[in-house]
Amino acid sequence: MSVIISPSLLSSDFLELGAEIERLNFVDDIWLHLDVMDGHFVPNLSFGAPVLAKIKTVSKHKLDAHFMVTNPDAYADSFKDLGLHNFTFHWETVAHQDRMIAKLKEHYPSVGISLNPATPLSVVPSYIWGKVDLVLLMSVNPGFGGQKFIPEIVDKVIELDQIRHKHGFKFSIQVDGGVTDENAGYLIQAGANNLVAGSYVFSAPNKDYMSRINKIR
Ligand code: DX5
Ligand code: ZN
Repeated sequence: MSVIISPSLLSSDFLELGAEIERLNFVDDIWLHLDVMDGHFVPNLSFGAPVLAKIKTVSKHKLDAHFMVTNPDAYADSFKDLGLHNFTFHWETVAHQDRMIAKLKEHYPSVGISLNPATPLSVVPSYIWGKVDLVLLMSVNPGFGGQKFIPEIVDKVIELDQIRHKHGFKFSIQVDGGVTDENAGYLIQAGANNLVAGSYVFSAPNKDYMSRINKIR
């Protein structure tokens, strides 16, 4: 499985968002990770539909939206015409996850579920794994870029990869939070095939994002 890198725009320079996105248009095999926050599920706010609509007009990449919100159901409707590729919601925020996945499948090519670092894989019943395209394992407590990677998540990736292999599931394993060139190798070896990276990519000297992305690879 080839590895997708998904730079998180949360760490980009919002004052020149268009130029930042264009810099990433020159890099192949990446998604654009878009962190939508509501100030409730996480103690922070980022951007919403109007900004995502503008991003879509500039980016050539697949848009990977990560909803850190208490009510993703409402967002499923209001974001459906924005051309998002992937819609990931947090397992912890939804009472009827199966119904939510079915609803998202009607509007989005790819549907993801996300688990906080403290949420074990065992909360997800086995029949769900075959219904999702992506599983996002948070490797920091969600809400902010630039936090320190929680190394115990590597074992969670291994456990999830074993579930995937055992039953032949097709979902991607995405890891988000504190990813750098130093831990990416462990994560990929553990079975991750989609890595989100925010501050590591956007702190590249001379805005050479491609070299940071290649270092992760
Ligand atoms: C954090 C977000 C991440 C964040 C990652 O809650 O979900 O996508 O932007 O940033 P870094 O890579 O700096 O940890
Ligand atoms: Zn994210």
